[in-house]
Amino acid sequence: MARHLITSAIPYINGIKHLGNLVGSQLPADLYARYLRGRGHEVLFLCATDEHGTPAELAAAKAKVPVAEYCAEMHEVQAEIAKGFRLSFDHFGRSSSAQNHKLTQHFAGRLKAAGLIREVSEKQMFSHADGRFLPDRYIEGTCPNCGFESARGDQCDNCTKQLDPVDLINPHSTISGSTDLEMRETKHLYLRQSTLKDQLEAWIDSKKDWPVLTTSIAKKWLNDGGGLQDRGITRDLDWGIPVKDGDKDWPGMEGKVFYVWFDAPIEYIACSQEWVDAGKGDDWERWWRTDKGADDVTYTQFMGKDNVPFHTLSFPATILGSGEPWKLVDYIKSFNYLNYDGGQFSTSRGRGVFMDQALEILPADYWRWWLLSHAPESSDAEFTWENFQASVNKDLADVLGNFVSRITKFCCSKFGEVVPEGGAYGAQEEALITDLAVRVATYQGMMDAMEVRKSSAELRAIWVAGNEYLQSAAPWSTFKEDPEKAAMQVRLGLNLIRLYAVLSAPFIPDASETMLGAMNAAGAGWPDDVAGFLAGLPAGHAFTVPDVLFAKITDEQREDWQSRFAGVRT
Ligand code: MF3
Ligand code: ZN
Repeated sequence: MARHLITSAIPYINGIKHLGNLVGSQLPADLYARYLRGRGHEVLFLCATDEHGTPAELAAAKAKVPVAEYCAEMHEVQAEIAKGFRLSFDHFGRSSSAQNHKLTQHFAGRLKAAGLIREVSEKQMFSHADGRFLPDRYIEGTCPNCGFESARGDQCDNCTKQLDPVDLINPHSTISGSTDLEMRETKHLYLRQSTLKDQLEAWIDSKKDWPVLTTSIAKKWLNDGGGLQDRGITRDLDWGIPVKDGDKDWPGMEGKVFYVWFDAPIEYIACSQEWVDAGKGDDWERWWRTDKGADDVTYTQFMGKDNVPFHTLSFPATILGSGEPWKLVDYIKSFNYLNYDGGQFSTSRGRGVFMDQALEILPADYWRWWLLSHAPESSDAEFTWENFQASVNKDLADVLGNFVSRITKFCCSKFGEVVPEGGAYGAQEEALITDLAVRVATYQGMMDAMEVRKSSAELRAIWVAGNEYLQSAAPWSTFKEDPEKAAMQVRLGLNLIRLYAVLSAPFIPDASETMLGAMNAAGAGWPDDVAGFLAGLPAGHAFTVPDVLFAKITDEQREDWQSRFAGVRT
C-alpha cells in the first residue's frame, strides 16, 4: 500500500465549467484517484475553487453581488455539480480560505527573506472616479488598428491585435465609464524566477518519465525569449490575499493583493489544511512536508496544457525558493483541448455543453465514459453528438448493459435469483479466464501509467470478451440439452458482472454500484487474482436482476440536443 496525493487544477470561480474543462483536469484526476483507492492505496484527492483575480471581480459585478458573496455562492454551485459528476474529492476547498491567506503570506515572507523578491515601479492606468488602478480588462476604448469601439486594454476582440491600455483612443473605465484616467506610478513585487532557472531545469530534466506535452512546454518557457522571466506576483485589486510578509505588514504594499496565479497553487497545500480543519483528516503535514513523512508520498497533478508553465516553473519556484521541505510534484499529467462540434468550447462565449446542462440531459456515467474514452491526450479531441450517441449506444448499452441484462434475466427465468451450481468451469471458460487475466494486467498497467484512452479501450475489450463468450457459450441453447452445463456458464457470467463492476468503477461509478448491488457483492476488493475472483460468487448466492444500466440515445434525442446546444448560452 502506497500513499498518493492527487490534485486537479482548481477551476476558476467565475461560472460553471464546460465539458472541455472537466476532461482536462478534474475528471481524469478522479479516475486515477478511484483506481488507486480501488487497488487499496491510501489516497488524498484535493480540488478547490480558484477565487481571486479580475475574472472573479468582473463576474460578481455582472451578477450585481459583492464578490465575496458571489464566490461563496458559486463555490456551492460548483461543489454540487462536482458531486453530480461523482468527483470523489476528499476535500473541495476555496483559494479564498483563511488557511490559504496565511500560507500564501507565509511563502511570500520566505521568498523575501531568501532575497527572491524584487520591487518594481511601473506605470498603470489609474481611474480617479473609481479610486483605483484599472487592470487591462477594466479599460476599453477605440482600437488604434481597426477602429473597433470596445477594444479592451489588453486586446482588440475585433482584429485580435494585442494592445497596451495607452494605445487605446478615448480610453474609459468599464466600471464607471469615466474617462478621467491617468498613467500613475505603482509598485509591484516580482518573483526572481530567473535566479532559480538552473535549479528548475535540473529538476525538470530529472523527470524522465514525464509526458512530452508537459516537458516540452516547460522547456520552452525556460529557454525561449531570453530564458525564464521574473514574474509579477502582486496586483492593484481589492479582492485577493493582502500582500504581507508572513504576518507582518509589507511597507509600501498597502492595499495590494497577490496575483491570483501566486496564491492558487498554494491552495493545493492550504486545501489539505482545510480538509483537516473540516474534521475529515488529522494530519496534513504527512502529505506535504518531506520532514514529516511526505517523502513516501507520490504526488500527481492533473491539468490542461495552458496550466503547465505555472505548475512546472512558477509554483516549483515558490516551493524551492521558500527553502523549506515541501513536497514537490512527482508527475504532471497534462491534456490537450477538447473541441465542440467544429469549434472551441468557450466559457466567455457560452459555446458548448456546460457541466450543469450535461447532467440535466443524462446521468454522470454517460458523460464520464465518453469524455474519458476520448480524452485529449496525444492531440486535441472533438465532441460531436453523433460520436457521443454512437459510443454510448455501442459501448455502454450494447456491450456492457446488454451483457448484464441478458445473463441476469436468463438466470432468473431458468434458475431463479440465485447463482446456480453446475460443476467446474470447462475449457472454454478457462480460456476466457486466462485471456481476462492478461487483459486485466494490461488494464492495470495502462491505469498506472494514466493512459486514459488506452485504459478505456482495454476495459471495453474486457467487456467485449465476456459478451463474445456469452454469445458462443449460448447458455440458452445449452440449457435444452445440458441444463447442468448451462448453469455453470451462467455462474461464470454472473461472476463476470462482479468483475466488471469492480474494474469499471473508476470510469462509471454509478453503474458499478448498481452492478455490485444487484450481485449482492458490495465491498468486493480488487481482482488481483482474476481466476480466484471469478469464483467469488458461489452457487447459492442470491442476487437481483438490476434495472436497465444504460438507455440508448435515440436519433430524436440526439437531434434535439444538437439544436438545443447549437447556439450560445446566455
Ligand atoms: N484556475 C486555473 C484554470 O482554470 C487553474 C489554476 S490551478 C492552480 O486554468 F495551480 F492554480 F491551482
Ligand atoms: Zn482592432
